[in-house]
Amino acid sequence: RAAVTDYIIKDIALADYGRKELDIAETEMPGLMALRAEYGEAKPLAGARIVGSLHMTVQTAALIETLTALGADVRWASCNIYSTQDHAAAAIARSDVPVFAIKGQSLEEHWDYLDRSFQFPEGANLILDDGGDATLYVLLGARAEAGEDIIPVPESDEETVIKAQIAKRMAQSPGWFTKTRDQILGVSEETTTGVHRLYDLQKKGLLPFPAINVNDSVTKSKFDNKYGCKESLVDGIRRATDVMMAGKVAVVCGYGDVGKGSAASLQGAGARVKVTEVDPICALQAAMDGFEVVTLEDVADSADIFITTTGNRDVIRLEHMREMKDMAIVGNIGHFDNEIQVASLRNHKWTNIKDQVDMIEMPSGNRIILLSQGRLLNLGNATGHPSFVMSASFTNQVLAQIELFTKGDDYKPGVYILPKALDEKVARLHLEKVGAKLSTLSTEQAAYIGVAPEGPFKSDHYRY
Ligand code: NAI
Repeated sequence: RAAVTDYIIKDIALADYGRKELDIAETEMPGLMALRAEYGEAKPLAGARIVGSLHMTVQTAALIETLTALGADVRWASCNIYSTQDHAAAAIARSDVPVFAIKGQSLEEHWDYLDRSFQFPEGANLILDDGGDATLYVLLGARAEAGEDIIPVPESDEETVIKAQIAKRMAQSPGWFTKTRDQILGVSEETTTGVHRLYDLQKKGLLPFPAINVNDSVTKSKFDNKYGCKESLVDGIRRATDVMMAGKVAVVCGYGDVGKGSAASLQGAGARVKVTEVDPICALQAAMDGFEVVTLEDVADSADIFITTTGNRDVIRLEHMREMKDMAIVGNIGHFDNEIQVASLRNHKWTNIKDQVDMIEMPSGNRIILLSQGRLLNLGNATGHPSFVMSASFTNQVLAQIELFTKGDDYKPGVYILPKALDEKVARLHLEKVGAKLSTLSTEQAAYIGVAPEGPFKSDHYRY
């Protein structure tokens, strides 16, 4: 692949196709379009130099164009090796925004592309992250420059690759990581797994700048993680396998927001769904939503489809996969691929069926179908969540970036959530599109329940 100075994508000839899909996406993304209308003239992000590390899809292209419409300079990489939509990347490259993302890029390329997305001539000053790789890259590099041990990276497969990329940058530009870290005004983080990393850094006193936890805006995690997966999980399984879902037994590991959406997705397709959980509250929720709560050991030899949604490691292990029926389907929709012990299968016989679909022969002779090599299958095997739900997520992202850029100095290093008034604003911007008509409180009613008539309508501890 010939590296060009300002983008690395599959094929620029896909730009027209990408643009057409982007035009359609915009009609389903009222939140982003409203922000363009509200802030397009004032350009609150003029002077912002944003590094984006987030799945380079059509919906992300609409996010990028909202950030640039608000005045930002943007450079972009995908946060997963399989999640890029090459036509979306092409449309962005054609619009002169530097983008480094190819569906099916290697891990080495992943970290190299992330590094390239940081290379603004004047240096980046904001990070928009999904899963925390961009933040991790800068912080680990700065530690390495200070001669400190780098924080152990949970994804051990990637540790050597990350260290090699850091060493390469250190050799090319001594002091670059420290300078970049000191210039970053803040980060906005998209997903549960990245948010876990941020709180962990904060706890250890290693977070040098403010971070906005976008995931825990209600209009993000209670919509994207849930209703998004409800649509995109089955989409991924179908595009990968075309298997008849009705009547099959499917196991969903984890019943958090993603698990709830995933179980509903499979149930909607007619599968008989079982759930595993470690948290008694979520287990009880699953049972009362009508799902049998089991252990993986109980169902490893009988279920047809296994999906991890935990954000945890080693959930489906070799011992489970050894028990599975012939042609059982195994996939993950959590952020990282360590939920399934894919590494333990490397010495088995693999037959590639098509991109992101592999058949693996187990010692018993039974075969399993592994989706996206254990990486998030809704983006690897399909195209991720629909535009409408991503509009809610990304409207929060843009508000977070504006907050960090315009008021970053008011925040001490730490992890913050956007105020509820903004959360309610994001929801409000999406009502018309679904034909929802909101009722209003009378002054007496508002006083009776102790809120202002225009909101916020709930206390911070309300759980929705
Ligand atoms: P969550 O914290 O709401 O849910 C995870 C659940 O898994 C929890 O209820 C936890 O008790 C359970 N769990 C943990 N270890 C377990 C184990 N060993 N066995 C069974 N259950 C276990 O997190 P959320 O928001 O549902 O996110 C889950 C993952 O999905 C994260 O990695 C997140 O980043 C990712 N994500 C992926 C999306 C996608 O489109 N593919 C969209 C949004 C989030």
